[in-house]
Amino acid sequence: DSEKQAYKARIKQLLIDQNAVLVAHYYTDPEIQALAEETGGCVSDSLEMARFGRDHPAKTLIVAGVKFMGETAKILSPEKTILMPTLEATCSLDLGCPIEQFSAFCDAHPDHTVVVYANTSAAVKARADWVVTSSIALEIVEHLDSQDKKIIWGPDRHLGSYIAKQTGAEMLMWQGDCIVHDEFKSNALKELKKQYPDAAVLVHPESPASVVAMADAVGSTSQLIKAAQTMEHDTFIVATDKGIFYKMQQAAPGKNLIEAPTGGNGATCKSCAHCPWMAMNGLQAIEASLSDTDKTDHEIFVDDELREKALIPLTRMLDFAK
Ligand code: 13P
Ligand code: SF4
Repeated sequence: DSEKQAYKARIKQLLIDQNAVLVAHYYTDPEIQALAEETGGCVSDSLEMARFGRDHPAKTLIVAGVKFMGETAKILSPEKTILMPTLEATCSLDLGCPIEQFSAFCDAHPDHTVVVYANTSAAVKARADWVVTSSIALEIVEHLDSQDKKIIWGPDRHLGSYIAKQTGAEMLMWQGDCIVHDEFKSNALKELKKQYPDAAVLVHPESPASVVAMADAVGSTSQLIKAAQTMEHDTFIVATDKGIFYKMQQAAPGKNLIEAPTGGNGATCKSCAHCPWMAMNGLQAIEASLSDTDKTDHEIFVDDELREKALIPLTRMLDFAK
């Protein structure tokens, strides 16, 4: 509608005026993803967001995603201004892994290599030996396991157990989960499969093990989009945040994409396959991040000492992923 058009027009102008670029995750709403693309920004998974932000020459990055993504951008590009539509957009994995407890867990096992998921605070990253995203986690743990390293893994227990199962690595696990993916239910998925016996099941590894066990492909958001594009099936049942359908449908036109079932009837489900924090990245909030003269509600800062420490495991991941 016309109000949305007006917001988009203002954002486009503000991005130019402020030498800023919009970086969006696949779980943000379709209109935000479209705007990022139209304005020369990027829409991608967590690993690509980090890379794109680091390498882009813009002075300012607007990170439409959740806080850990903004912090990662700041750690990699301290000279850039990093703005978020709202600093309240967090993640249950980050919230469920406070630095004091996590650090004590690591201290109790000093002979272990600490591997943390990107969905963590800058302080938790600073405590780690490696940071991984879902697209590279398996390869990095395989690499560490081949060197007989004992591993502390945090915070996503589902991703951790998937990796432990695939690699056979010895992993001490933090017990966090993603409130969105934790809702997918294997029993309901079995029923749905009966209706679509020829469908391939695509699963993000933050989902419970019983759901991952039913997958024809497991991977990060970008890997799942690639799977829909390249697998020969006509129908896909997709267990991840529904924000992904926008790019997945573009990548696989003509294919039938179906949401995997979440818990209960919608009324009882906490997040119903859409992350409430990703959903905070609306047009109005993006416009405010650029137009507010006081950036207190938008600008990301990371303490210098933490930043320097967190840069080490993050750079290790980016170098490994090359
Ligand atoms: P990826 O896009 O890296 O798969 O991350 C998923 C996620 O949960 C981001 O919040
Ligand atoms: Fe965190 Fe899950 Fe939301 Fe991703 S989808 S930001 S993992 S709560």
